[in-house]
Amino acid sequence: MGLHRRIRRALVTGGSRGIGLAVSRRLLDAGVEVHYCSRTPSSHKHERFIHVRADLACVPGGAESIIRHFSQQGLAPDVLVCNAGGFHAALIPRQDDRFVQEQMNVNFISHLCLVRWAAGLMMMQRFGRIVGVSSTAAHFPAAGQSVYGAAKAGLETFLKACALEFAGKGVTCNRVVPGYIHTRFSEDYLAGRNLKKTVPVGRAGSPEEVAEAVCFFLGENSSYLTGAQITVDGGLALAVK
Ligand SMILES: NC(=O)c1ccc[n+]([C@@H]2O[C@H](COP(=O)([O-])OP(=O)(O)OC[C@H]3O[C@@H](n4cnc5c(N)ncnc54)[C@H](OP(=O)(O)O)[C@@H]3O)[C@@H](O)[C@H]2O)c1
Repeated sequence: MGLHRRIRRALVTGGSRGIGLAVSRRLLDAGVEVHYCSRTPSSHKHERFIHVRADLACVPGGAESIIRHFSQQGLAPDVLVCNAGGFHAALIPRQDDRFVQEQMNVNFISHLCLVRWAAGLMMMQRFGRIVGVSSTAAHFPAAGQSVYGAAKAGLETFLKACALEFAGKGVTCNRVVPGYIHTRFSEDYLAGRNLKKTVPVGRAGSPEEVAEAVCFFLGENSSYLTGAQITVDGGLALAVK
């Protein structure tokens, strides 16, 4: 299925590598202009792949620099993929307030600010697609994932409320919930780990498999999908005891 014909310009947070890069490549292949943010530029180069340097762990600051980048050029995104994320493992009694704040900022607060801004522009043009990349940790956090899971749950709940408020204004808001995916984010955790007993399909997923779900929400025939979730976890949620 092709992308919706009105999609010309996208903002992908954390588009430099991993899931965000896989989504960006799909969009670029479809002729979309992709603005992506990260702290360091991607090694992937394309004339329509535009880097915006931003640290979304900084509030205020990160989201504002992206908004400035668009407004100075008089541009608006048709698609916002809230993908950038950060995780710092810590058991609850050992949590450091700085890491708590950074995880809340990058996974939730900065995206709340970006959605608020982008949705205003999208509603004016009566078209927009917002997709959040969450985590199974929002639904069943493991030990050490309390803040990360809570931040992703915050993002999910916020996007559900957005779906309700923006329905009827041409703007859809949906969520993709990955399980274990092979990216730099998870490489330490996955190193040497056998997933055959944990994940029903017996392996970790690829960034492209998550990108497929994100792009489904951007399809020509996806206008009636809002407030929805696609879980891309190889059946992990079914196997959690
Ligand atoms: N991989 C998994 O197993 C898995 C599972 C569940 C959910 N997820 C979620 O999937 C999303 C994408 O992760 P990934 O696996 O693709 O990880 P990744 O390969 O490490 O990519 C993360 C992206 O986010 C950017 N980023 C990280 N911190 C940032 C910050 N403070 N400000 C701006 N950009 C930042 C990174 O660029 P810079 O470092 O240059 O800033 C990079 O572009 C995340 O939200 C993650 O929580 C991943």
